[in-house]
Amino acid sequence: MPSATPEPGPYRIVLGVAGGVAAYKSAELIRRLRARGYEVEPVMTREAARFIGPTTLAALAGRPARTELFDDPTTPIPHTRLGQGADCVVVAPATAHLIARYALGLADDLLSATLLATRAPVVLCPAMHTEMWESPSVGENLATLRRRGVLVLGPDAGPLAGGDEGPGRLAEPEAICALVARVLEGYRGPLSGRRVLVSAGGTREAIDPVRVLTNRSSGRQGLALAEVAARLGADVTLVTAGAHEVAPDVARAVTVVRVESAAQMADALARDFARADALVMAAAVSDFTVGARPEKIKRADGAPTLALVAAPDVLAGLAAARRPGQVLVGFAAETTDVEANAQHKLEAKGVDLLVANDVTAPGAGFDHETNEVVILARDAAPERVALASKGAVAEAILARVAALLERGAR
Ligand code: CTP
Repeated sequence: MPSATPEPGPYRIVLGVAGGVAAYKSAELIRRLRARGYEVEPVMTREAARFIGPTTLAALAGRPARTELFDDPTTPIPHTRLGQGADCVVVAPATAHLIARYALGLADDLLSATLLATRAPVVLCPAMHTEMWESPSVGENLATLRRRGVLVLGPDAGPLAGGDEGPGRLAEPEAICALVARVLEGYRGPLSGRRVLVSAGGTREAIDPVRVLTNRSSGRQGLALAEVAARLGADVTLVTAGAHEVAPDVARAVTVVRVESAAQMADALARDFARADALVMAAAVSDFTVGARPEKIKRADGAPTLALVAAPDVLAGLAAARRPGQVLVGFAAETTDVEANAQHKLEAKGVDLLVANDVTAPGAGFDHETNEVVILARDAAPERVALASKGAVAEAILARVAALLERGAR
């Protein structure tokens, strides 16, 4: 009996082409992608058609080059079909306008709707004038997209369409093809193939069966670190005392271990630490525990005296057991002398990076959606990350982790 499982077809690449002069290079790109045996579905914005004819792209792809959300006689919802069927979506060139629409989640044409409708990896290849490339809005939109797991290739520097020179040229078609090939082999970003262990939230130490000793940490920064690490390609374990749920797009890449006390957190981290490439210790672990009473302390018995017992320093313990090549990141929750205290913790804890947090600063620290930190390192100047979403702060921290891992791996 022949097997009922159909043979997998060739990889399907949706090639988005936005409206810039570099659109002419998409013809060469299609040729090269097809030479590698991939099926290519060209999707153009209407503006792209001012720079290169759909007939050219259709002829090279061997299938129509689509522009419209509503003109397909075979399906009323082409963006879903294109998005779901793609193994990889590449946009080359990606213009400032296309990047902005994607970052905002607009879906006002076939290409932007397809970008929203896909779960396939997305590679953006920006091309634009240097001034546009260097504008803060393009930079921030791309940072947002990177943090969501979008891969960005280029632009290269060199002669531009206006006769001047600078960064803004579309990456070479061969470099784009090479990245697509890596993506099809499983590459998802700078943390691809890395195991990242993240701790989050404030631990709770039982006083009696009803009451706990805890702190104000919500676990949001740790959650953001876990989600962003997963979007950058890592295989993540999140050990958390927080109550948040991992976002659906990365739920499969993040193993969540829920803990309550400092001792449970220490045990859970110890189980995973040896195989982790990086540990990011964002949890606010209790420094003290209480000998928990087995029964509820009754009001009628009068105010009790709680004897606190020092809890072990989990991070310092793990740092002492680290193997070469592992990257360790600690946090410092401070209220005074932030950098001096954090500098001391960098040394005392034996970590590579120490993220200093003034938890009294407006909009930063516990229970806020935003954060403002300074990243201290042993061999680099402090990096100040201005007030931004906890996702953006996570990206800045994880970029440093990826760079350290890269250095260690060489
Ligand atoms: N940490 C830990 N185990 C503890 C306490 C803290 O692993 N029992 C970790 C935290 O997760 C953080 C770092 O150590 O990454 C610094 O935590 P912080 O609370 O700022 O400092 P402490 O070491 O507790 O020192 P202090 O409270 O005196 O500032």
